[in-house]
Amino acid sequence: MRILGIESSCDDTSAALVEWTNAGQAILSQKTASQIDIHKKYGGVVPEIAGRKHAEAIIPVLEEVLSGQKKPDAIAVTSGPGLIAGLLVGVEVAKTLSALWDIPIVSVNHIDGHVHSVELGQTSHIEFPAIALVVSGGHTELLLAHTHNCYTLIGKTQDDAAGEAFDKVAKLLGLEYPGGPKISQFAKTGNPNKIPFPRPMIHDEGFDLSFSGLKTAALYWLRDHTLSAGRILSIGLPSGVTGIQAEEPTIHDFCASFEQAIVDVLVLKTMRAVEAHKPNIVILAGGVAANIKLRQTLGALVQTQNAELRTPLIPYCMDNAGMIATAGYYKAEQKTYTPWRELTADPNWRVYDAAKTRYTQ
Ligand code: KG4
Ligand code: ZN
Repeated sequence: MRILGIESSCDDTSAALVEWTNAGQAILSQKTASQIDIHKKYGGVVPEIAGRKHAEAIIPVLEEVLSGQKKPDAIAVTSGPGLIAGLLVGVEVAKTLSALWDIPIVSVNHIDGHVHSVELGQTSHIEFPAIALVVSGGHTELLLAHTHNCYTLIGKTQDDAAGEAFDKVAKLLGLEYPGGPKISQFAKTGNPNKIPFPRPMIHDEGFDLSFSGLKTAALYWLRDHTLSAGRILSIGLPSGVTGIQAEEPTIHDFCASFEQAIVDVLVLKTMRAVEAHKPNIVILAGGVAANIKLRQTLGALVQTQNAELRTPLIPYCMDNAGMIATAGYYKAEQKTYTPWRELTADPNWRVYDAAKTRYTQ
């Protein structure tokens, strides 16, 4: 089965042609037009601009992906959650192609796509039940995956998403959007114990998370302190000592301490879910899953519970159409299609909302 995936829910216009045969999965072609260079001027995604840019990019992206390829068997499109202007572009293009080519559409939830990104370009399949931590710029959700495309919500952020916290604090530091990769780059050579940032909601018994207090703590810390460049003090040293590291935290220490606080909270809540549900598989997905400290810390702890951590290949942590095609494949296998006349974009579609099922046929 060959599936054309389409993703346009945030700031990436992406299409991918993915094929499943007895030999496994193969990505035949994939193209993503990123809008990062446009949105970074504003420090975050501007919905109005994003919609217009998706409309401009979608046809060239599709042309490139479909060039020299046979007609796909089905189209998998992100129809929610996300920014309505972007979702509409993908959904309307999918409907047009479905009517034109007379092939079915699979309506895919963006979060379901992130969960399935762990299969993209890899040979292993998700086994169920699995705990999934989906962490991106727009979402921080802990899910229990019963089977493909079927979830129960365990916990979610009560305010900012983890990626959003990275992005906002990076902006305070004068770093460009998206800030997560830049903070983690600085963090590599910093001391994660230098600044005692709070770990919001860790004493709360449940699985919900919160990052806005941590962001505010970072804001206040920066207001009340100055970051040193890591200079060496040369005055007042005891005899025999030639130099001593300055006490003031550097930007590296600040980033490492902030990153550590986010990782500690995400890992603690995920491990609490692992202990409660005892899955064999734990999935870490979404843009923040590219964070190496998070991957390593969670991976080590998951192993102690005799479970296995599955992560996407780094390029597939970010939004991409291959993951949408992959989530769509499992629905297409069950023939859970949505007729193009009934397909609508739903910016608030919750992946765990069973009542609002998209498994139409
Ligand atoms: O999944 P994604 O591409 O888009 C959304 O659906 O939001 O995730 C983008 C987010 C941004 O907030 C970005 O700062 C964050 O993922 N991110 C990271 C890293 N790489 C990307 N956060 C922390 N560490 C990273 N290495
Ligand atoms: Zn995403």
